[in-house]
Amino acid sequence: MNYFILLSVLATVVTGKSPRLKFIVHEPPRFHFNKPENYISMYHQEGSDTLYVGGQATIYVLTFSDKKVVDMQIPAASDQTAIDTCKAKASPDEMECDNFITVLQKVNDTFIVCGTNAGSPRCWMLVNDTVLTDVQGGGMIAPASHISPPFPSQKSINLPADGSLYSAMSSVGGHTGLIRRTFGSQKLLKTENVWLLNPQFAGASIIPASEKYKEEIYFFFTEFNKTARVDEEPHRARIGRVCTVDEGGIKALLPESFTTFFKTRVMCGAGNTQQQYNNMKQAVVLTAQDKRAGVMYGLFSNAWGRTVVCAYSIEDIDRAFSNSKLKGYSTSFGGTRPGMCVRKSPSPADAQNNVKNLGIMRYYPEIEDVIRPVGVNPLDLPTDDQITHTVADIVLAVNDEHYTVLYLGTDQGKVLKVLHTIQDVFIISQYSLFHNEGPVLNMAIDSQKGHLYVGTAMEVQRLPLADCRRYGHTCRECILSRDPYCGWDKARRKCIAIPPGYNVTTGTLIQNLDSSNSSICEEAAALKLRQTSPREIVVKGKNTTVFLPCPVHSFHATYRWEKDNCQRNYPCLFSGDFCVLGPVVNTPLKEGVFRCMATEDGFKVEVVSFRLVNDGRLLSASFASILGLSALLAVVTLWLH
Ligand SMILES: *[C@@H]1O[C@H](CO)[C@@H](O)[C@H](O)[C@H]1NC(C)=O
Ligand SMILES: *[C@@H]1O[C@H](CO)[C@@H](O)[C@H](O)[C@H]1NC(C)=O
Ligand SMILES: *[C@@H]1O[C@H](CO)[C@@H](O)[C@H](O)[C@H]1NC(C)=O
Ligand SMILES: *[C@@H]1O[C@H](CO)[C@@H](O)[C@H](O)[C@H]1NC(C)=O
Ligand SMILES: *[C@@H]1O[C@H](CO)[C@@H](O)[C@H](O)[C@H]1NC(C)=O
Ligand SMILES: *[C@@H]1O[C@H](CO)[C@@H](O)[C@H](O)[C@H]1NC(C)=O
Repeated sequence: MNYFILLSVLATVVTGKSPRLKFIVHEPPRFHFNKPENYISMYHQEGSDTLYVGGQATIYVLTFSDKKVVDMQIPAASDQTAIDTCKAKASPDEMECDNFITVLQKVNDTFIVCGTNAGSPRCWMLVNDTVLTDVQGGGMIAPASHISPPFPSQKSINLPADGSLYSAMSSVGGHTGLIRRTFGSQKLLKTENVWLLNPQFAGASIIPASEKYKEEIYFFFTEFNKTARVDEEPHRARIGRVCTVDEGGIKALLPESFTTFFKTRVMCGAGNTQQQYNNMKQAVVLTAQDKRAGVMYGLFSNAWGRTVVCAYSIEDIDRAFSNSKLKGYSTSFGGTRPGMCVRKSPSPADAQNNVKNLGIMRYYPEIEDVIRPVGVNPLDLPTDDQITHTVADIVLAVNDEHYTVLYLGTDQGKVLKVLHTIQDVFIISQYSLFHNEGPVLNMAIDSQKGHLYVGTAMEVQRLPLADCRRYGHTCRECILSRDPYCGWDKARRKCIAIPPGYNVTTGTLIQNLDSSNSSICEEAAALKLRQTSPREIVVKGKNTTVFLPCPVHSFHATYRWEKDNCQRNYPCLFSGDFCVLGPVVNTPLKEGVFRCMATEDGFKVEVVSFRLVNDGRLLSASFASILGLSALLAVVTLWLH
């Protein structure tokens, strides 16, 4: 018996939400590192084509165009004495005895670069994109060890805000983690040691306000209670906040410390159940300009390492910080509430209240209210992907509404593009990007120019945010993509990116983002009639069994085979990247026309068709046409005798 079997390599059982489309991108622009870079920092300025990547003893200045990447490498080696000392001390890991670039940030016009320098951190200034020099300028700068950790495995976060740099250092070994203001014209400040319990930092963000002095910075981290009992969860996800106007306390109280620091607990899990994700790994914030409104996305894991994403309202967080009682403090505040963002120069009465408040701030850093996610539960995302990094974007759609798109990097080097609306999570697509599959380590998004930069230990790749050409040539395919960056141009009959400056009142592009419904295209009747011309397959001999492949485009559609002049339809024998029709009991797979039909959004559309002809000619020649189609999509063909 001759069997042709097509097996889909990527066939997996999909659980939970799944990406509707899957794209494999192996084209430029991409950059390959000469050696693996297991820790990468990134700096990208909106509107530019240049990405700065900090690696081991090197700063990569990568300039992208649509066709290629031009790279320039700035050496940033450790001094030999630091390396020797590091190796002699048998520090955490000898591999870490080098200069890993952990900080690449622009503060005003100063480009600050800091590295681990083999256990004794150093900072430089990057000048003219080429030269590293000592940091100069009028402002103050903290010791480099407050800005960069001594080893890259100790996670740190740096955020420029208002001409100052804020640095958060995670705790390792005997070091308490701290948040500091480390550079700029404002006073250098820090958190008190007792305020944070072994923090591991996950992110930081500026929270804008209509009045500048009310601007705040949120820090995202996870605390770890070393003395927790075995039956207790030792991790707690946190948000800490300070005001950018903070100038520290008075000589007797908190002289070098923030006086506006509060922290709160963040929950991520189903309601009040035990199923909580307490370890926040990363966080991003989307805010509207000058408004204290927006959304925060936190990436969490639980004790078993499963990752989920929870969304929070910035207004909820802001309300908690402004109104909540302080944990363990039951007296009423009297005058102004402690920790408010206020302009300097208090009146004498204020000054007295201020001293009292400093006392409260010193001993009661935690608020009582707990922050819970919007929609109560974690976002409904595919469960078979471990998410390693997230970025987010706000897109103005053609209905004049803003939509949120999340980009989730996975441990397999994939990126999921997700539309998040209040009602729903819709997984627009999954990109497989890399030659060498490895976790996504870092991403940077440029909303202005419309680019996403994705880095693994081996490669850095750039993707367009509006990747509309991949969605197909029909209105229905364009609309069902539910991609807020793309709309159907009725006049030109093309799926196109919404152009900059698009006028939502006079524009003619169409979209439907709130549900998978393409009735707006008004082409249902035409779709029903559409037929493909069948490819002819000549079958030799009675005992030859043929398998017919139908490429799966949308993973949200139902694929089936139908035979002409026959009321029956046949399920896929295998599914995955192909819906394969093969011999099952009573299937007359010998002669006739077989059509592969995909049903989505209530419409059935024909994808491919084959005509099987039974005559004496050679089979393998005509079968090549099927293989040509399938080879494209990484399908293995086995010929079993
Ligand atoms: C940077 O470029 C400017 C103008 O080309 C030059 O005057 C300056 O010396 C350069 N600085 C360094 C540190 O190379
Ligand atoms: C940054 O710029 C602001 C406003 O231009 C200025 O007040 C501040 O001193 C600058 N900071 C540094 C560190 O140069
Ligand atoms: C850590 O856990 C122990 C045991 O439950 C508890 O007594 C202690 O108060 C916790 N520490 C903090 C700072 O919450
Ligand atoms: C859009 O077009 C309308 C009508 O021509 C005009 O009144 C409006 O100002 C335009 N909006 C923008 C943002 O340009
Ligand atoms: C799609 O939208 C149209 C118009 O809003 C509506 O009449 C129709 O019932 C919707 N179809 C589905 C499948 O929801
Ligand atoms: C077809 O298969 C049957 C059962 O496996 C076998 O008995 C028969 O000889 C085969 N015929 C040909 C022409 O190979």
